[in-house]
Amino acid sequence: MKKQEFHKQIASQPRRLLQLQQQADHVQNMKHRDFGQFVAREAVLDEEYWTAAWLRAETHWENRTDDRFADSYKKKFAEQEFNALKRQSETKLGQKSACIVTVKKENANERHIVLKSVVGTLDVSICPFLLGETFPGEKVKAPIFHSTDRKEPKSQYGYIANLCVAKSARRQGIARNMLHFSIDFAVSDGAGQVYVHVHRNNIAAQELYEKIGFKVVELASPQLSRDKMYLLCYRP
Ligand SMILES: CC(C)(COP(=O)(O)OP(=O)(O)OC[C@H]1O[C@@H](n2cnc3c(N)ncnc32)[C@H](O)[C@@H]1OP(=O)(O)O)[C@@H](O)C(=O)NCCC(=O)NCCS
Repeated sequence: MKKQEFHKQIASQPRRLLQLQQQADHVQNMKHRDFGQFVAREAVLDEEYWTAAWLRAETHWENRTDDRFADSYKKKFAEQEFNALKRQSETKLGQKSACIVTVKKENANERHIVLKSVVGTLDVSICPFLLGETFPGEKVKAPIFHSTDRKEPKSQYGYIANLCVAKSARRQGIARNMLHFSIDFAVSDGAGQVYVHVHRNNIAAQELYEKIGFKVVELASPQLSRDKMYLLCYRP
């Protein structure tokens, strides 16, 4: 189903609209970061997951407008992303993940419906380090005798993925604020540092992460050079 069709379908169901708006009122009490006309917080509604998935699909295909199959690829991509987001929201053993969204605030005259106002999204996970690992993905040999105690302080790290902001809303500080919110989210949940991968050609994202205080992890694996990626780390 296309994004517009989905919006039309929801808009034609007044009870569902009311329910959505009540849930939207409820999310006002959640942990959030308020900046200008936007709020960053955890996604809670299916419709928010769905629009976040669409935003990811649109970003993924934004430079491939000449591809005549782009629309059907986007649709498939969005469906897969939505299912992944729903699965991810179920906490796995030792790992917690959240889909963060930035939504445009309502103003007094215009009651925005949540699903129309998602302008940015990312995933943040809090993961335990494997034994001996000092950064995510480091190849380590496990010693023969080892403890599986995960309660060691700061033995967890935060990991950020799938950051994207709607084209029409860029350069308004949305990514910066979502990242600050996600870092606080991970640190308050016990992460000692926060990591992100970025493509070496993605200068905009590198500038953004650098401004926030992320640094390149010098020790990152040769695989990253082959994939033309950097691993960046933020230490609070
Ligand atoms: C990269 C991206 C997330 C930035 O989102 P954004 O909301 O526009 O970023 P912000 O407004 O918070 O920008 C904060 C800072 O990042 C840097 N920055 C952001 N976009 C930039 C661009 N296109 N070129 C250069 N620097 C840029 C600037 O230093 C900016 O500060 P300034 O506006 O005061 O100069 C957005 O362009 C996007 O979604 N790109 C496609 C997906 C992507 O590349 N994601 C990152 C994957 S690692």
